[in-house]
Amino acid sequence: MAGLSTRHLLGIKYITRDDINLIFETADNFKEVLNRPIKKVPSLRDITIANLFFENSTRTRMSFELAEKRLAADVVNFSASNSSVKKGETLLDTVNNILSMKVDMVVMRHPVPGAPVFLSKHINAKIINAGDGIHEHPTQALLDAYSMREQLGDLEGKKICIFGDILHSRVALSNVFCLQKLGAKVRVCGPPTLIPKHYAKLGVEISYNVKDSLKWCDVANILRIQLERQDIKFFPSLREYSTYFGINKQLLDEIGKKIVIMHPGPINRGVEITSDVADLEGHSIILKQVENGVAVRMAILYQLAQMD
Ligand code: CP
Repeated sequence: MAGLSTRHLLGIKYITRDDINLIFETADNFKEVLNRPIKKVPSLRDITIANLFFENSTRTRMSFELAEKRLAADVVNFSASNSSVKKGETLLDTVNNILSMKVDMVVMRHPVPGAPVFLSKHINAKIINAGDGIHEHPTQALLDAYSMREQLGDLEGKKICIFGDILHSRVALSNVFCLQKLGAKVRVCGPPTLIPKHYAKLGVEISYNVKDSLKWCDVANILRIQLERQDIKFFPSLREYSTYFGINKQLLDEIGKKIVIMHPGPINRGVEITSDVADLEGHSIILKQVENGVAVRMAILYQLAQMD
């Protein structure tokens, strides 16, 4: 079987439908491994991976670390908040110092859009983007699409609506690229102030009506309101946001059709989603997404390690 078309995972924009399908097939195999009593395989023995996190993370960071350890890689973790970055060291100096310790792969989360692309032009190690500012979060999009495929089968023609704070979301852009490559129909829904104008050029439908969008979609991928990235007000209050754009059980009951409920986390319970929807058995697959994240990240690490 042919390998990936790239030696880095910088964004979904830069990979092909065949790459995505190869990652999914590989993840199917690793998911089977993760269900065994011994969840470890020696596939990345002698490979050293540095997880460089310049921004906070719970899921992505732990998921990568577990994926690496399940593949028997050597792992080093770096967190900017307690590093020499605080003394003024540059990104390139930081990374070059870490690489001089014979690191083969870098998993990086950074607040600046394009930081992984910048690094890829200056270092030899393989780079995985674990989220760069409001740009892309490719591994989240891959685990999201993998989880949708598990629920719905082939995504060709399936209707996926991404709800919420599209403007500040790297998950939204990576989801759009990934789902479109897999042939799904994609809509975004939220307040006009939180949907960037350029989305109209991406070939996605745009809606400001939550009820109409819920009626339309097979999957509702609900995004967090990212207050930490909002220097100005984009809506009057959280209470007003949840009234007009939040997804609650009453809305789902009124629509009366089965919709797969997803959220990349962390959740603002009672803002973009109520707890009775986030935890709704038979609909919500939020924790399944997290579970699948380990197998999908194992697949990405494994396939990139095969590249020269
Ligand atoms: N979904 C996601 O990226 O979560 P973390 O910020 O906790 O990694």
